[in-house]
Amino acid sequence: MNKHLISVNQFDREGLTRLFDLAHRLEHAQLDVTFSHKCVSTNLFYEPSTRTSSSFASAMYKLGGSVISINDVSFSSVSKGETLEDTIQVMSGYSDVIVLRHSEQGAATRAAKVSSVPIINAGDGVGEHPTQALLDLYTIHKHFDLTKPLHVALVGDLKHGRTVHSLLQLLRLYDVHVHLVSPEGFEMPAYLVQPGDELHTHLWTCMPHVDVVYMTRVQKERITDTHLLNQVGDYKLTPALMHMAKQHMIVMHPLPRVDEIDMRVDVDPRAKYFEQTTNGLWIRQAIFVNLFGGDSVCWAPHSK
Ligand code: NCD
Repeated sequence: MNKHLISVNQFDREGLTRLFDLAHRLEHAQLDVTFSHKCVSTNLFYEPSTRTSSSFASAMYKLGGSVISINDVSFSSVSKGETLEDTIQVMSGYSDVIVLRHSEQGAATRAAKVSSVPIINAGDGVGEHPTQALLDLYTIHKHFDLTKPLHVALVGDLKHGRTVHSLLQLLRLYDVHVHLVSPEGFEMPAYLVQPGDELHTHLWTCMPHVDVVYMTRVQKERITDTHLLNQVGDYKLTPALMHMAKQHMIVMHPLPRVDEIDMRVDVDPRAKYFEQTTNGLWIRQAIFVNLFGGDSVCWAPHSK
């Protein structure tokens, strides 16, 4: 069966509830799962990563399985000119699942076409980053009741940031009022914007009203237009802005942070970006348990 996890559009609310329930039980040691060490995942990363590759590896090791880590493809046959398709066919013979990060949008779909084992999209260029969005939503779900209306602000480089592209699509499944806050030239792609979304160029205009502020960095490595980079200016979440915010709101960031959140915000109890990284471990364990646990997976087959 096609168990590839390529896009958040494979999820509905019911699937998300099941996955979050699994993550919750793993987190609170209510579920004891031990894989055979013969269960092998391959981390195949064509782009830099700290959290995503390490948390996928940690998740598999903690479950008892093993990991092949190709975190710098310049040391692999890719440097000799091997195609993605060939590398995937080879590695799917050595592993039970492949976690793939690539700089090109659509790479995970290409990989899924030739792989005999499930492909998990760990970021495909400016496309999607579904497992990040799952851990982001899991974090929101821990702090708010997702059956009630919620105001969420996505802030920063919404044009090139794949985490916000995925998260926004998941938020559409709930009663979420969306605020899109970006400097000029860094707006969310039109196909993801819906009537009713509020568009802002400055965070202060929506800060007092939102329950979640999701900050992102400028994706410099994806921007070739230096003129655009120079005009981005400064957008920064500061203690002064936090002073305007609701008492029970939360601040999130997929990390790495560059300078869009003042370090003084870290001590504010509403700052949840480091909690988010730990939630990534539970979500990624839940994905593996769901993949290899015998139950049907929480997501629909990938169709494209
Ligand atoms: C994000 C990514 O790679 O898209 N990082 C991550 O996986 N936590 C966000 C980013 O690099 O800005």
